[in-house]
Amino acid sequence: MTNELTGKRIIVTGCARGMGAATVRTYARAGARVVGMDIDDDGGAAVVAAVNGVENGQQAHYIHVDIADADSVAAAFTEAVQVLGGLDTLAHPAAIQRSSDAGSVSVADWDQMFAVNVRGTMLTNQAAFGHMKDTGGGSIINFGSISGQRPEVSAAAYSAAKGAVHSWTRTAAGTWGAHNVRVNAVLPAMATPMYREAMARATEEQRTASYWQNRRTIALGEEYGDPEKDLGPVMVFLASDASHFITGQLIPVDGGQTSVR
Ligand SMILES: NC(=O)c1ccc[n+]([C@@H]2O[C@H](COP(=O)([O-])OP(=O)(O)OC[C@H]3O[C@@H](n4cnc5c(N)ncnc54)[C@H](O)[C@@H]3O)[C@@H](O)[C@H]2O)c1
Repeated sequence: MTNELTGKRIIVTGCARGMGAATVRTYARAGARVVGMDIDDDGGAAVVAAVNGVENGQQAHYIHVDIADADSVAAAFTEAVQVLGGLDTLAHPAAIQRSSDAGSVSVADWDQMFAVNVRGTMLTNQAAFGHMKDTGGGSIINFGSISGQRPEVSAAAYSAAKGAVHSWTRTAAGTWGAHNVRVNAVLPAMATPMYREAMARATEEQRTASYWQNRRTIALGEEYGDPEKDLGPVMVFLASDASHFITGQLIPVDGGQTSVR
C-alpha cells in the first residue's frame, strides 16, 4: 500500500474488531492520521496500540464512544478533531447485529437496533459534517448491508435498520453536497467476528440455508472476504481525492453477492 492518504485526518468507529479494526490498520498503513473509537475500550485501545507498534510510524489514537448517545458522540468527535487538527474522513462501521423475526420482534429489541445502527449513523454523520462543512468538505463512509436490500427472515430489525442507513446515506449526500461533504455506504460481505457469531448462533438448518442464500451467491470464490485485503483498498479509495465525484452511492464490496439497482 502506498501512502495515498498522507495528510488525511480520519475517524474510524467500531475500531475494536472486524472491519473497524482492519480499517484503522489500513488507513495508518496508507499514511493517514487516525482516531479509532468504540464502546469496547479494551479492544479498541489494543487495536490502536498494535497499530502504533508497526504501521508506518503513524500515531493512532483511541477515544471511547457510544454511538447511540448524542452527548458521547459530540464529546468524542470534538476531542478527536482536536487531536487530529481537523477532519477529512469518517469511516463508520460500528453497529450491532441481532436475530429477530418479523412476527415477534419486541419493541425493546427493535429500539435497541435502531438506536445503535440508525441513530448512531445519524449522530456520527452529523458530528462529522459539523466539523467538515466549513473546512473544504470531506468523505463519510457508512456501512450498509445486503440485509437492507432484500427480505431477511432471520434478522427483521437489522434488515429494516440497514434499509434506513441506505436511505439516510442518499439523503445526507443530497443535502451536504453543497458543502463538498460526500456520503457513501459500502455493503460488505467479510469474515469478521459479527459474521462468525451469527453463524455460531444459527442452527444446522439455518447454516445450510445461509450457505445457499449467502456464500453460494458470492461469485468470486463463494467465501466471505478479508477486511484488509478485499475491503481495505476500497476504503482507501473512498477516503482519497480519487473518489471526489462519487456521493450518495451504495457500493457492494462482496464478491458479487448482490447488485444495487
Ligand atoms: N460482516 C459482514 O459480512 C457484514 C455484512 C454486511 C454488513 N456489515 C456491516 O459492516 C459493519 C462492520 O461489521 P463487522 O462485521 O466488522 O462488525 P463487528 O461486530 O465485528 O464490529 C462492530 C464493532 O462496533 C462496535 N460497537 C457496537 N455498538 C457500539 C456502540 N453503541 N458504540 C460504539 N461502538 C459500537 C463493537 O464493539 C465492535 O467493535 C457493520 O455496520 C455491519 O452491520 C457486515
